[in-house]
Parts: sequence; structure tokens; C-alpha cells
Amino acid sequence: MNLTISGSPPPLAGDRISMPFMSPHDLTIRHALAEDDRALADLNLSAWSWLSDVAPRPAADAGVFDERHDPDEYLVAEQGGRLVGFVRAVPPTPLASNQHVRQIQGLAVHPAARGNGIGEALIEAACATARTRGARRVTLRVLGHNLPARRLYERCGFTVEGICPEEFLLDGRYVDDILMGRRLDD
Ligand SMILES: CC(C)(COP(=O)(O)OP(=O)(O)OC[C@H]1O[C@@H](n2cnc3c(N)ncnc32)[C@H](O)[C@@H]1OP(=O)(O)O)[C@@H](O)C(=O)NCCC(=O)NCCS
Repeated sequence: MNLTISGSPPPLAGDRISMPFMSPHDLTIRHALAEDDRALADLNLSAWSWLSDVAPRPAADAGVFDERHDPDEYLVAEQGGRLVGFVRAVPPTPLASNQHVRQIQGLAVHPAARGNGIGEALIEAACATARTRGARRVTLRVLGHNLPARRLYERCGFTVEGICPEEFLLDGRYVDDILMGRRLDD
């Protein structure tokens, strides 16, 4: 089933999202399913580094979904029958007063699939889904030294809204935490 991004009802898990502005060849973005857990965990592991992560490398047998990580929060990118990327967007807090915001709390593209616009397609799909679900703003946190991700976010219309200097000590170096946000079109 193809979904139209704007004006459509909240999508169901596993529904495919039609992305007419996307260029990457043979790319499908859809909502995650519980059975994506293993492939997502493997992808997460392959994308892990101190450039983008603040927690140690996950265990090889660790899953992704648990009581705090629901498949409904994830969009996955599939190419050639393989899962090549994901994005996770959630309300920053459980407060009713905060439900008009979505925060991107996970984004990764398999190292072999990078540089083809998949990251941009995931961000745009996450913003479109957030808008469909009533959000007005999307925010995120990115490490100061993660230049590929910062360039991607800026290209997607995010601007810097704050900096927490030397927030993390990663691999022996203090690294800034950059807060970015994007207002969604009405
Ligand atoms: C950040 C990340 C998600 C970007 O994914 P990606 O799929 O490579 O992103 P894109 O392809 O959309 O953009 C990356 C580059 O490819 C280029 N590009 C985009 N579309 C392209 C296309 N069709 N053909 C060739 N190159 C393209 C972009 O210009 C961009 O170049 P830049 O590095 O000069 O900015 C990926 O590097 C990653 O998984 N990093 C590790 C995890 C991480 O950092 N996550 C973010 C945490 S905040």
C-alpha cells in the first residue's frame, strides 16, 4: 500500500511511504515491523562509531526493540530487499504539552550505502510523518565532530538552536553536543 504524505491518516506499521521527491534508485521507506529487529540491530552495529554514538558499541546479540523502543517510532529504508537505513523519531518527553514536537533519536545508513541520498530521504520521511501526526517542529542532537550528519541536517533545513560545550568525553576527547531544530510547514 502506498501512502500520500500530507493529509493522510496516521500510517500503519509496515505501510510503504510514497516519496516522489526521492532520487535514490529502488529505495522504499516504510514503517518498521517487529520482525525488523535483527536487521535493525545489525545495521545499528555496522554504523556504530564514536563519531556519532555516545554509548559503547552494542553487544552483537542485542536487539533494538524493547519497552522503550517501539517499532512504530521507526522508519526503515530498504534497497534491493535489504534494510539499508533507519530513522527513529519520538516526542522528546511524555508530557501532553510537548506532543507537538518530534525528536530524532536515531539515524543511520549502512556504511556501504552512504552518499546516495538515503539519509536525506529518511529525514524528509520522518518530517513528513511527524507532520501527518500533528507535529509542528522536529528537533535533534548531533555531536559537534559529526560533520557528515551536520551537513545533512543543514541541507534538510535544520538550524543550530543551541550548543552544550564539551558535553561528552568520547575516545579521550571532549565533544560538543549541538541542538538543532526545524519548523514544519503548516
Ligand atoms: C549521517 C548519515 C546518516 C548520512 O547518510 P547518507 O545516506 O550518506 O546521507 P546522504 O547520502 O543523504 O548525504 C550524504 C552525502 O551524499 C551526497 N549525496 C546525496 N544524494 C546523493 C546522490 N543521489 N548521489 C551522490 N551523492 C549524494 C550528499 O551531497 C552528501 O554529501 P556531503 O557529505 O558533502 O554532505 C550516515 O553518514 C551515517 O549513518 N552516519 C553514522 C550515523 C550518524 O552519524 N547518525 C547521525 C547521528 S546524529
